[in-house]
Amino acid sequence: MEEHKLTPTLDGSFTIFSERFQAGFHSHFGALSESQKVYIEYGLNFLSNSGQKDIRLFEIGFGSGLNACLSIQFALSHNLQMDYRSIEQYVLRQEQIDQLYELEQFHFPYYKRLFNEKKVELTKYIQFQLIHADWLHYLIHWNPNLIYYDAFAHSSQSEMWDIKQIEKCYSSLTHQGILVSFCSKGQFKRDLKTLGFTVESLPGPRGKREVTRAIKT
Ligand SMILES: C[S@@+](CC[C@H](N)C(=O)[O-])C[C@H]1O[C@@H](n2cnc3c(N)ncnc32)[C@H](O)[C@@H]1O
Repeated sequence: MEEHKLTPTLDGSFTIFSERFQAGFHSHFGALSESQKVYIEYGLNFLSNSGQKDIRLFEIGFGSGLNACLSIQFALSHNLQMDYRSIEQYVLRQEQIDQLYELEQFHFPYYKRLFNEKKVELTKYIQFQLIHADWLHYLIHWNPNLIYYDAFAHSSQSEMWDIKQIEKCYSSLTHQGILVSFCSKGQFKRDLKTLGFTVESLPGPRGKREVTRAIKT
């Protein structure tokens, strides 16, 4: 059986359904709208509006690369310097990636280069690296100022939300560094506070009441 299935979502964009985890990569209400709101608006745009023009971004769960594509487009249009590193254990096959990006309503000329494990210099100011590894056994030897915590939901993969995993994010983030996630579970927010984050619950995209932004203070 095919492990990943291409699936339309209600805003007209596409996502992938994982048979292994019985979970979609994004909300079925809208992959693009979710990514735009949670990661771009509450994460990248918020950080850049605070005056930070040098973005060091780490993502947990590269998936279809949608967050990465939107972030790179944002960095290009806002003249940001960006080093984007993303971890993924189950990298999609080339045909699936091509199918997905042919259907998407937005055009992203760099997408093929992102699925290659080597570090890529997309422009003089924008670098990207896909780390093909298991997050559960990975340590971040780096200091990002922004983290996208985009693992599958707790109901599909509870081990990804263990406080040990979140702690790795807290330790590596710079002072005032930001973690954003679609997850608004009470235990997740309590763990973030226990670790020392200041936690905000923000209005979610369609179909989701709240999402989370945590700042290392
Ligand atoms: C919610 S999806 C990520 C969506 C993605 N950010 C995007 O823009 O398409 C979660 C991703 O985590 C990956 N994943 C699951 N377990 C993992 C692990 N132990 N280490 C790294 N990645 C993992 C899945 O394969 C899936 O691609």
